[in-house]
Amino acid sequence: MGGATHQSVSAVWIKANLAANKYGANMATNNLKAPAVALGTWAWGDSGETGNGYFGSSLNQAELKNVADNAHAAGFGLWDTAMVYGMGRSETVLGQVLKRFARSDYQLSTKFTPQAAGTGDDPVADMLEQSLSRLGTDYIDLYWIHNPADVARWTPHLIPLLKSGKVKHVGVSNHNLSEIEFANQILGEAGYRVEAIQNHYSLLYRASEHAGILDYCRKAGIPFFAYMVLEQGALSGKYNAENPLPRGSNRAETYNGMLPQLKTLTDKLASIGQQQGAAAPDVATAWAIAKGTTPIIGATRPNHVDGLVRACSITLSSDDIAELEGLADATGVNTRGWWEREMLV
Ligand SMILES: NC(=O)c1ccc[n+]([C@@H]2O[C@H](COP(=O)([O-])OP(=O)(O)OC[C@H]3O[C@@H](n4cnc5c(N)ncnc54)[C@H](OP(=O)(O)O)[C@@H]3O)[C@@H](O)[C@H]2O)c1
Repeated sequence: MGGATHQSVSAVWIKANLAANKYGANMATNNLKAPAVALGTWAWGDSGETGNGYFGSSLNQAELKNVADNAHAAGFGLWDTAMVYGMGRSETVLGQVLKRFARSDYQLSTKFTPQAAGTGDDPVADMLEQSLSRLGTDYIDLYWIHNPADVARWTPHLIPLLKSGKVKHVGVSNHNLSEIEFANQILGEAGYRVEAIQNHYSLLYRASEHAGILDYCRKAGIPFFAYMVLEQGALSGKYNAENPLPRGSNRAETYNGMLPQLKTLTDKLASIGQQQGAAAPDVATAWAIAKGTTPIIGATRPNHVDGLVRACSITLSSDDIAELEGLADATGVNTRGWWEREMLV
């Protein structure tokens, strides 16, 4: 992937942003520029000696290095991770594969997870220090409160991190609308604000849209990062009743039982893709872009990056979107993660 790819990615960026605007979105703020697509590394926590627990993907560092190379060459540079992804393993392997690139060429997004807080005076600062060390850097571009365990307790801890420059931007994840507003108020009193939202958002799980969070983000100019757009591979079209998700993994437990209900939807994703030289997961990703979000896609193979390049150039009509959403609703499945609470309150 050389200069031609760079050129075409610039073009797809513009196209993706125009597509987003067509659906009423303006996802860039003065403070934080959200890319068309971000890369997720939860599955990377399965790599190495911690084994293949959650995803069962058998990842190794050499192949993940190729994923990073492809992403870098294609111009994708925002990497999302968290300490709890493989309890440090995702951050460690990400730091290792990115270290040959200039720090200014990529952005790091990682999280404070209240459920894993230590017992020191400032568990947020402590968890950040450990993340910085594993990632081999002295700042994080985008730091999140991972879950809204206690908004009043944890949000204020972000303020000294912003003041010190160790954290450039902050966001909240898995927060409902009133929790987002409360976090924004706390940060606002110190002259800062919630600069990004990160929630589960896919064709199968649109709770943030139904709860008005997407609208809120659009009106406030806050980028919305959509995670699990591919429902951990269940919407990729690669898995079905005959070829299920890796047995014994947590994602298999969640999704294998629902794969037969998803077939009509994944077939439709594939057929829309076929008309544009793309595949089912590319269309699922393009749908999230068309809805004005920045999808965070868990790329585990080098060729997944090619899919992201294609996704950025797919045009979906409003009829395509309505049909996909209708088929998704008709599946009747509920893919809310075990760590997520209801968004509608
Ligand atoms: N804030 C939160 O609470 C939270 C929660 C969940 C996720 N996240 C973030 O969001 C990211 C994305 O979520 P996720 O990784 O759980 O799930 P995902 O992006 O919905 O799906 C990732 C899986 O889809 C498959 N895949 C990816 N790209 C593909 C492509 N182009 N073609 C075919 N298959 C493809 C891979 O499975 P195979 O390896 O089997 O091919 C991969 O493991 C995470 O990595 C993480 O950074 C955040």
